[in-house]
Amino acid sequence: MADATPEETAPYGTGSTAAKPATRKRIRTHHLQQMKQQGEKWTMLTAYEQNTAAIFDDAGVEVLLVGDSASNVVFANGTSLPVTVDELIPLVRAVSRSAKYALVLADLPFGSYQGSPEQAFHTAVRFMKEAGAHAVKLEGGLAMVPQVKLLTDAGIPVCAHIGFTPQAEHNLGGYRVQGRGDGASRLIEEARALEDAGAFAIVMEMVPAPVAAEVTAALRIPTIGIGAGVDCDAQVLVWTDMLGITTGRVPRFVKKYADLHSVMLDATRAYVADVKDGAFPADEHSFES
Ligand code: KIV
Repeated sequence: MADATPEETAPYGTGSTAAKPATRKRIRTHHLQQMKQQGEKWTMLTAYEQNTAAIFDDAGVEVLLVGDSASNVVFANGTSLPVTVDELIPLVRAVSRSAKYALVLADLPFGSYQGSPEQAFHTAVRFMKEAGAHAVKLEGGLAMVPQVKLLTDAGIPVCAHIGFTPQAEHNLGGYRVQGRGDGASRLIEEARALEDAGAFAIVMEMVPAPVAAEVTAALRIPTIGIGAGVDCDAQVLVWTDMLGITTGRVPRFVKKYADLHSVMLDATRAYVADVKDGAFPADEHSFES
């Protein structure tokens, strides 16, 4: 059902929040490329389950990324490294069942694609067949060109991810801006090679804004920035950072659009107090005999 048009799909279950204009269509990779050509910016947000996926879809987010950030955000690991394909597949399935319009992008987790193009192919096929993903994302530069080429040739749209790549944090010496100094020309070379291999878009993470602007201008395919300045064709954020569920320090590139942590904490405290005081359930929440 993941690729059905809105008219063909069953009504939402729990997640729908808005009327669905009949003119909205499923976003496909060529729409994202058209938007770049027309100078129209677009958005990507992470999603890991049905309710937020449906809200972000209603709000007009073009791409929902089931990121391996689920490792931290859903599974409470300290890094993105431990999360597995088997853990991510049910999350991707929930998001692709809930998003009527957005393109659903599945992140290939650490160790599930770096070994060989064939390994990447088998992992990507699982995300498409078992979870309804429309495309996959993988991290890395020139070393990933054979993977991108094989997947694209096999009909699997691939989004690349360069700059700071969290799966390589131990190799990169921690969370550090990439592409400064000599790194800038390497980044442009990587981006061009990934485009030539068939990637439909490239995420650039923690890259100096002028370098990201140069890469964006050099490519025909869209760039998606996270900590890469305003000139990228699109932007992505982890939703729990963006809506203020995450507590404590968030990266400098995050803009917090809400403080859902406080909203949820206050509401939950009110529920606890009501139950203890006998104020909930009231008559209207109870059944007569
Ligand atoms: O896993 C993720 O959420 C990501 C984004 C931060 C781009 O890769």
